[in-house]
Amino acid sequence: MPFVIAVPKELAEGEKRVATVPEVVQKLTKSGHEVRIEHDAGTSAYYPDDLYTAAGATIASSRTELFNGARIVLRVQPPTVAEVDQLAEGTIVIGFMNAARNPGTVARMRDRKVTAFALELVPRITRAQSMDALSSQATAGGYMAAILGAANSPKFLPMLTTAAGTIRPATVLILGAGVAGLMAIATVKRLGAIVEAYDVRRAAGEQVRSLGARFLELEINAEGQGGYARELTPEEKEKEQEMVSAAVARADIVITTASIPGRKAPLLITRETVATMRPGAVIVDLAAESGGNCELTQPGRTAVEHGVTILGPLNLPAEVPFHASQMFAKNLQSFLALLFDKDGALVTDFSDEILAASLLVHAGEVRHGPTRDLLSGGMS
Ligand SMILES: NC(=O)c1ccc[n+]([C@@H]2O[C@H](COP(=O)([O-])OP(=O)(O)OC[C@H]3O[C@@H](n4cnc5c(N)ncnc54)[C@H](O)[C@@H]3O)[C@@H](O)[C@H]2O)c1
Repeated sequence: MPFVIAVPKELAEGEKRVATVPEVVQKLTKSGHEVRIEHDAGTSAYYPDDLYTAAGATIASSRTELFNGARIVLRVQPPTVAEVDQLAEGTIVIGFMNAARNPGTVARMRDRKVTAFALELVPRITRAQSMDALSSQATAGGYMAAILGAANSPKFLPMLTTAAGTIRPATVLILGAGVAGLMAIATVKRLGAIVEAYDVRRAAGEQVRSLGARFLELEINAEGQGGYARELTPEEKEKEQEMVSAAVARADIVITTASIPGRKAPLLITRETVATMRPGAVIVDLAAESGGNCELTQPGRTAVEHGVTILGPLNLPAEVPFHASQMFAKNLQSFLALLFDKDGALVTDFSDEILAASLLVHAGEVRHGPTRDLLSGGMS
């Protein structure tokens, strides 16, 4: 049975990505679905309307036209409360939902009996790898952080032996070697820098070394539940500070990506440590959105302190919108496959492990425990 799948233009400030791309539209229309794209939805990611039309989509010139009869809505960013009001009861919305930051939207989706799947809740199991939008977008963010670091540094990254003399390679330090950190390492390595990296998870050491970077070892292992990091004890934090500060002081570029799910980002670079850095050094703080890994980071801005440039970019994946959208769209394509049975009918029980874990709101109920607790704490 064919379904109408609608893709709105993202309206969040600075959001240039789009939830689907023509290549994926072609696959969806081939399976018999009608794909409707809001006019200009892909323009800022360099997917113009005519490419979607050529792939079999129809272009909707208004939101009313877009959502009329739509069963599924694909998005990058969570909808606003006003956008939820445009959706009919039973509509399935899939995208990042950031429920903790958008309790109003979650409450409205619950009240309007909209079904929402949150991509950030997709479990990080092998079977879900192709749907792991956190990873695909962290890859884009890590890449851009490396490019920003290089572009803001007054130095070359590679070693150069030229008639005008020899240039020593720059030293780049990566703090947090998860998906974004590893991509940043690979990128600055390709530019010829000497790379050091640190993560509280000892398992990250092997991955760091396999990329040709030096792993800074601390005698602790803070791997917690599900492969994520746990918070450090005060003694561990002190040891960490000492080692990290020495590495920061010798770096030309520091890229920080350290985060703990659901918590404020750990503080790794203090104001005092920044003062020990060389003039011209650059910090790119990818954790700016969740409080920052550097004490002097200003989210969404660039600060210069003691001659050190500190960038606090928000939503870096949106700065590589073409490929970030392509990867996101493929993640959604894989996720959508779980929603249909072999006869092409929508599944209704959502008992699949991945669907069950990512189901945020359904049939007037918040299904995700922590979000339900948050809302019942008086925020609805
Ligand atoms: N499908 C899969 O199997 C799959 C896919 C993606 C990621 N993962 C794993 O999930 C985990 C989290 O990856 P992520 O990129 O989403 O992580 P994340 O964005 O939650 O955190 C980034 C990194 O910061 C590190 N960190 C936290 N506190 C720190 C501190 N005080 N100092 C230094 N580093 C600190 C974390 O260990 C992590 O590596 C990793 O183990 C990753 O390999 C698995």
